[in-house]
Amino acid sequence: MASAVPSTLLFCLVLLVSPYLGCSYHTSYTHGGMHYVLRSNRDHRQPKQTPTCSSVHSGRSSSDGVPVLHRLSPCSPLGAARSQEQTSVADVFHRDALRLCSLFGEDNHGDPAPGPSAPGGGVSIPNKGDPIETLPGVFEYHVVAGFGTPVQEFTVGFDTLTPGATLLKCTPCAAGGEPCDPAFEPSASSSLAQVPCGSTDCPFHGCSGPSCTLSVTINNTLLGNATFVTDTLTLTSTTTVENFRFACLEAGFRPSDNSTGILDLSRNSHSLASRAPSSPGTVAFSYCLPSSPGTVGFLSIGAPKPELSGRKAIYTQLRSNPDNGNLYVVELVGLGLGGPDLSIPPPALAGDTILDLHTTFTYLRPEVYAALRDNFRKWMTQYPAAPSLGRLDTCYNFTGLNIFMVPVVTLKLDGGADVDLSMDEMMFFPDPDNHFSIACLAFAAAPANAREAAVIGNRAQSSMEVVYDVSGGRVGFVPYRC
Ligand SMILES: *[C@@H]1O[C@H](CO)[C@@H](O)[C@H](O)[C@H]1NC(C)=O
Ligand SMILES: *[C@@H]1O[C@H](CO)[C@@H](O)[C@H](O)[C@H]1NC(C)=O
Ligand SMILES: *[C@@H]1O[C@H](CO)[C@@H](O)[C@H](O)[C@H]1NC(C)=O
Ligand SMILES: *[C@@H]1O[C@H](CO)[C@@H](O)[C@H](O)[C@H]1NC(C)=O
Repeated sequence: MASAVPSTLLFCLVLLVSPYLGCSYHTSYTHGGMHYVLRSNRDHRQPKQTPTCSSVHSGRSSSDGVPVLHRLSPCSPLGAARSQEQTSVADVFHRDALRLCSLFGEDNHGDPAPGPSAPGGGVSIPNKGDPIETLPGVFEYHVVAGFGTPVQEFTVGFDTLTPGATLLKCTPCAAGGEPCDPAFEPSASSSLAQVPCGSTDCPFHGCSGPSCTLSVTINNTLLGNATFVTDTLTLTSTTTVENFRFACLEAGFRPSDNSTGILDLSRNSHSLASRAPSSPGTVAFSYCLPSSPGTVGFLSIGAPKPELSGRKAIYTQLRSNPDNGNLYVVELVGLGLGGPDLSIPPPALAGDTILDLHTTFTYLRPEVYAALRDNFRKWMTQYPAAPSLGRLDTCYNFTGLNIFMVPVVTLKLDGGADVDLSMDEMMFFPDPDNHFSIACLAFAAAPANAREAAVIGNRAQSSMEVVYDVSGGRVGFVPYRC
């Protein structure tokens, strides 16, 4: 094991293999199943990159797709006021708990009524309660999307786990003359069309009248109407989808993240993923998530296959969940640590693994997490342990060191797809600018009753492009792309 090598010798070895040193506060290097972090000669940090916010709004020209903003991004209309805000670990765990509760909750599967639950099926907008508030958790990432003709732009979330429909706040907003938050004005769009009540595109079976409308109540009080319409969706100058179906939510609906709606990237046949322009050279969509509020990622609809631009993607098979045809599911078959596989009995990994956009950390069944944690601790005995941070119970204090090394965690997915996580994907640094401080393994135990084998959070995906080749039945990972 590498801990047997004296660290001075190791330091020299790493100096020899390291591509360059001394241009930032620390240098990272990965070799032989280990991540090395070295203190650099000069102790000055690079100025923080500020995203160019102008590229985020109209006239966006990113060849990679529509810019993705963190909810606290200084470029986000939702985050601008709070760009100084630091995310606390407690806050992250609270948000993860809300999201997991919904992912693992009893009512998540089972009842995607009304409508068939076969792939490309169900919409689960209930007629009681706010459909936006019943969505899992709060959205970490947003895009600016244009609806209608002429285009009306709104900041919306995007998600692969939705009620099976794109939801958008529409006028009329509030009864009684309350101020109107940003909302789509259907009457101002020349390309809008109602979905007729009896149409196969209308998932509400109980509607009456000419439009596909459901009245949603809370405590016997009308919250507002949800009405399915179609209109043009504009994401970039080259990505427009005509006759895109979405639910217009009137009056009292209020997304808790103050966005105007949510883009559906599920497997529903009307989702943006299903409506993506398709050709042999493209996939349904791909994304790079911003690794911090100050950076910008992208969401690319009808994205080019990475291998066509010379990028190597690691693919695993996409599965479907028989209870919920809208879900994308992969299969985790093992975990590697520092190279070798951990010994985990296969039944402990049986079940669905969900790649989630809006959970931060990665959650494993308790016995799987215990195997990872216990082995990780064996590798790390030479470093002083630090107190737990929330549910992250494997933390170290690297303060004052000149070098440290951490065994690489490999997610082993079905079909030989071994995804090595980078240092920042597998460890959580409460002070992201200083790696010579506290760091915790960014994994935790899922609730004991969880049906899913694992939920892979956004931190573990933060430097990879994740490619959803839905028609090819696979999901790919392009490491170090973001
Ligand atoms: C519905 O009514 C119950 C009991 O009066 C109350 O506790 C609850 O907060 C109400 N829910 C909403 C969304 O107003
Ligand atoms: C909701 O729909 C019902 C019946 O379709 C209609 O009478 C009512 O005016 C609508 N409410 C709003 C706020 O549009
Ligand atoms: C949403 O906006 C309200 C009013 O401006 C604000 O009090 C609240 O903190 C915002 N919520 C979030 C999640 O930003
Ligand atoms: C980490 O170690 C440094 C130096 O030994 C010490 O000053 C600091 O209090 C430690 N931090 C924690 C959270 O243990």
